[in-house]
Amino acid sequence: MVGAGADVEDSAVEAALRPKSLAEFVGQPTVREQLDLVLTAARQRGATADHVLLSGAPGLGKTTLSMIIAAEMGAPIRITSGPAIQHAGDLAAILSSLQEGEVLFLDEIHRMSRPAEEMLYMAMEDFRVDVVVGKGPGATAIPLELPPFTLVGATTRAGLLPPPLRDRFGFTAHMEFYEPAELERVVHRSARLLEVEADAPGAAEIASRSRGTPRIANRLLRRVRDYAQVKADGFVTREIARQALAVYEVDERGLDRLDRSVLQALLKLFGGGPVGLSTLAVAVGEERETVEEVAEPFLVREGLLARTPRGRVATPAAWEHLGLTPPRSGAPSTTPPGQRGLFEG
Ligand SMILES: Nc1ncnc2c1ncn2[C@@H]1O[C@H](COP(=O)(O)OP(=O)(O)O)[C@@H](O)[C@H]1O
Ligand SMILES: [Mg+2]
Repeated sequence: MVGAGADVEDSAVEAALRPKSLAEFVGQPTVREQLDLVLTAARQRGATADHVLLSGAPGLGKTTLSMIIAAEMGAPIRITSGPAIQHAGDLAAILSSLQEGEVLFLDEIHRMSRPAEEMLYMAMEDFRVDVVVGKGPGATAIPLELPPFTLVGATTRAGLLPPPLRDRFGFTAHMEFYEPAELERVVHRSARLLEVEADAPGAAEIASRSRGTPRIANRLLRRVRDYAQVKADGFVTREIARQALAVYEVDERGLDRLDRSVLQALLKLFGGGPVGLSTLAVAVGEERETVEEVAEPFLVREGLLARTPRGRVATPAAWEHLGLTPPRSGAPSTTPPGQRGLFEG
């Protein structure tokens, strides 16, 4: 698996590889400049920084940035996540124990429960929560003042946030995928920290297969390091990187096994589509969500697959990438969805 979600090994290594300051944070020049202004201005005023929303795909540095925000403000940080807060009471307990100026990092903020979300509105705006005591008609709401704090919310799906929540953030940073040159710097930086020797072409090879994502770059670097250590003298060259990534089934464009099997099914079984997501998922033996959220975003971004109202469609680049020839007759795009069965040509 080379998807951008974090696994156990990642968590440990990632902590060691996290940049600790804005200056050390590679790439994202727009976000860095904007955030630097927000934080510097707050520091100059001696105030707590405004609430910040970080949106972007997994592995682009949202958690890292939240820690940097706390570090740059010289403030402690409390880390929790939307799914961990199921009841408003869970959130009240956290909020009421915050210190002045503290950063509260709420990861996956779009997955918080509705009652907690409503409590958060008031906390963000008025630094106040109503703690409900008792149940039923006898229940009373006791207002509780909170010290000023900075909420840093992270989400992979900014579009899923209810507008009232989105509007209460003073600043929203949209994290973009990284350029190959930026990822190369990430690879060199991580190689230094992991004490892996890599030359420039070796680092470039890893960067170019990392899907614009630092987490993936770091993960591929570790796999290449293993290969270099076992099969060679530990030094990472372009050739070693290529051999290692072939073993891990990561191709030149950064497609992994899942990506390729989705494309293969789309091309070989459905003539390039259009085909519905569920049908495609069954054909590759995966959950709908896995295909939609893990494989497709990258395939769409690479221009290999298109999501259309009539279903998923392969682009000419997809045929080319898998070395297949598109069917000459019966342009698939004119066949109504549903009429195209699994065993048609
Ligand atoms: N701009 C960056 N510069 C250097 N390393 C980065 C950068 N962004 C992310 N990373 C690395 O990628 C890994 C994943 O970052 P993380 O902040 O956990 O991503 P997210 O929270 O968005 O999923 C971390 O180990 C971090 O070291
Ligand atoms: Mg994270």
